[in-house]
Amino acid sequence: MDSNLVCNISPVAGSLEESAIRAIANFGMSQPGVTPLWFGESDISTPDFISRAAIESLNKGETLYTPNNGLPALRETLADYQNRLFSRSFSAENIVVTLSGTNAVMLAAQTIVKPEDRVVVLSPAYPVLTAIPRLLGAEVVEFPLSAAGGSYQLDIDALRTVLKGARALIINSPCNPTGWMASDEQIQQLTALSRELGFWIISDEVYNRHVYQQRCAPSFCSHMSESDTIIVCNSFSKAWCMTGWRLGWLTVPKAVRPTITKLIEFNVSCAPAFVQAAGIAAIEKGEVFLQQTVERFRVSREMTQRALTGIRGVTLYETPATFYAFLKVEGLADNSQPFILDMIETAKVGVAPGEAFGKAGRGHLRVCYGANHDALQNALHRLRNFLLAR
Ligand SMILES: Cc1ncc(COP(=O)(O)O)c(C=O)c1O
Repeated sequence: MDSNLVCNISPVAGSLEESAIRAIANFGMSQPGVTPLWFGESDISTPDFISRAAIESLNKGETLYTPNNGLPALRETLADYQNRLFSRSFSAENIVVTLSGTNAVMLAAQTIVKPEDRVVVLSPAYPVLTAIPRLLGAEVVEFPLSAAGGSYQLDIDALRTVLKGARALIINSPCNPTGWMASDEQIQQLTALSRELGFWIISDEVYNRHVYQQRCAPSFCSHMSESDTIIVCNSFSKAWCMTGWRLGWLTVPKAVRPTITKLIEFNVSCAPAFVQAAGIAAIEKGEVFLQQTVERFRVSREMTQRALTGIRGVTLYETPATFYAFLKVEGLADNSQPFILDMIETAKVGVAPGEAFGKAGRGHLRVCYGANHDALQNALHRLRNFLLAR
């Protein structure tokens, strides 16, 4: 690109780093026979009953603009769904339809964050969660979860100190990449802390149905009231295998919805009607499918644990949720790209570099075990041998 043009770009946009996961994927996709375990998605396509709902909507000619906040029918369906999950009484007034989980986080942050605000993000974190507040001009403080004895822990007393004077806390539970999940007690403690100190909470709960011991992960939706400074972000991408559809939603106190409505108008205007029709089908008819995918991932998780334990210098953390395994690899350089590129060339399997998830991710690798069992078994075998031969 012309260097004069580059100098003319907004400094915030210009300073964004290229996604380290994308760099690995670009190389891996250029190599024959490589099993990709780097992206956060499974190889299950969207089920037919969901696609059919979109096709029917298209056939009915539902191709025009829709309301900024989403179709009332989808918002009501989402409110009912959450009321069933969390024994609450949300109404459609608490729900805003977004174009994906990423867009949900962006809208939540745009509603709250001003330049020079301090925003605390629990780390390691999905890169979007630190990039969005930075794009809005905020100072991002990464608060690392402590990792001891093969599990991640949140030290709420230490977090409390960091949150004094902060504008917002961004929390992702269940967490990509670590698989850590906040307990209901911790969520209640954070809600109380937000009331006491006045910071906002943006809670990214896109993996809330990918849990192995209960129906749904503990959620801020169970505790937020109309006067709380809490916004919960969710997505259809993971639970209903709809990554390419770009549909998500926000749960908000009713008072902030009109502001978000305006932000949507100036960001994307609205979500497509036929995608929202698919969303209604996912929620209304998707429970059996969801349980089946979780059962498949439960087996995948066991396969992954079996394959990746007992390797010298490699620690595998407990993962009560998500479809990721997060590995600490002794001696791994802060920049793990050369190691992963070598893995791709020699073992024909690729994973995500831990440092893509912030400083606390350095020295780690993230393995997505969303691939079908045959492909996964094969890839894990090669990955194990590669790690053993280090
Ligand atoms: C923690 C987290 N939040 C949000 C997203 C974005 O999801 P979506 O596809 O809905 O944008 C992802 C996707 O991987 C994620 O891992």
